[in-house]
Amino acid sequence: MNTKLDWLEVKLRNMQSIKEYSPKYSPETVAKQLGIDVTEIIRLDKNENLFLSKQFFSKIIKELAEELDPRFYPQKEKSTLIQNLVKYLDLPSESIILGNGSDELIETIVRVFLESNSTAISIAPTLIMYRIIVNNHGNTIIDTFLNDDFSLNVASLLSKASHKTRLCFICSPNNPTGNQFKIESVKEVLKKFRGIVIIDEAYVEYAPYSVGKLIKEYENLIVLRTFSKAFGLAGLRIGYCLTHPNLASALKKIQLPFNINKFSLQLAIKLLDKRNIVKTSVNKLKTERERFYNKLCEIPGVKAFASNTNFLLFTTEKDVDIIYNTLMRHGILIRNIGNILHFGRCLRVTVGLPKMNNKFLNIMKELCCS
Ligand SMILES: Cc1ncc(COP(=O)(O)O)c(C=O)c1O
Repeated sequence: MNTKLDWLEVKLRNMQSIKEYSPKYSPETVAKQLGIDVTEIIRLDKNENLFLSKQFFSKIIKELAEELDPRFYPQKEKSTLIQNLVKYLDLPSESIILGNGSDELIETIVRVFLESNSTAISIAPTLIMYRIIVNNHGNTIIDTFLNDDFSLNVASLLSKASHKTRLCFICSPNNPTGNQFKIESVKEVLKKFRGIVIIDEAYVEYAPYSVGKLIKEYENLIVLRTFSKAFGLAGLRIGYCLTHPNLASALKKIQLPFNINKFSLQLAIKLLDKRNIVKTSVNKLKTERERFYNKLCEIPGVKAFASNTNFLLFTTEKDVDIIYNTLMRHGILIRNIGNILHFGRCLRVTVGLPKMNNKFLNIMKELCCS
């Protein structure tokens, strides 16, 4: 740059501490290293839905290819999708806001409600995105450890709040522990916390209950949901919030008008019409999850945790790096999570199709029994 701009130099220097989100590897790089085609990589690292087939989506996409006119901005599609969600969730349209994935909605919530010098509270371990987004906005997030059985320690969580605390993030079912918190604990937080409580229900379709309807009772509740998991649209980026109309209206005001593309919106509309197929796939996953969990527990030295999601958290007596790297050499990607409470280093694996899980289990058995 020829002209020296002092303010820009300061800005860029200050931004050096912010880390860009960049995954350590991609299926493409792993496939290249292994000399195999990327389609042969078994992706069990991001909790995507493998129970809805690619053919199922291809058919819908072909229909859309005829109907969609990309020359025009999205117009009616957002309200049509909201109307479909009204029927699906039995909640009023004024309480539903759409976002470009729930990530974008977390960002919108932080932008609207976290003023400078205010703070957020959350739990540990949980989804890292809350911390990243809050920190990127120059705010602090203070977390509290879950109990040893992964239940919520409500008193400890609330003790982290001060008069400056505006937001409380609770992921339920929680990523990466996989459990859903008791509704009584969630209600206690809603009653006692003097701020907005965000319950992230990204995995709720795999769990026993949703707190969605509680928005009628608690004006400080925002429920985050997504099409990325049970609905299989991780690549198309659609999330939504359920909340009191007053909060919804504040969030909508700062959203960009065309934040979700027309193709994604139309696909989600069609998918909601086919929600019985989605439901069937969720039930199949749940059955497979139980089988997978039981088989994993049978392997010597493995401790797996029961799950209300589409993934399993586990730890092993064997070095987790050896497990992780060996699986990767066999073309299976899972997630290295790091330390979880007093359980030491843990790994997280998505519940894949039975054939994929069996390949994973066979390698695990070989490693843990050697
Ligand atoms: C708990 C949780 N919330 C939100 C997200 C992000 O969802 P989306 O794809 O809707 O941005 C994820 C993704 O893994 C997640 O695990």
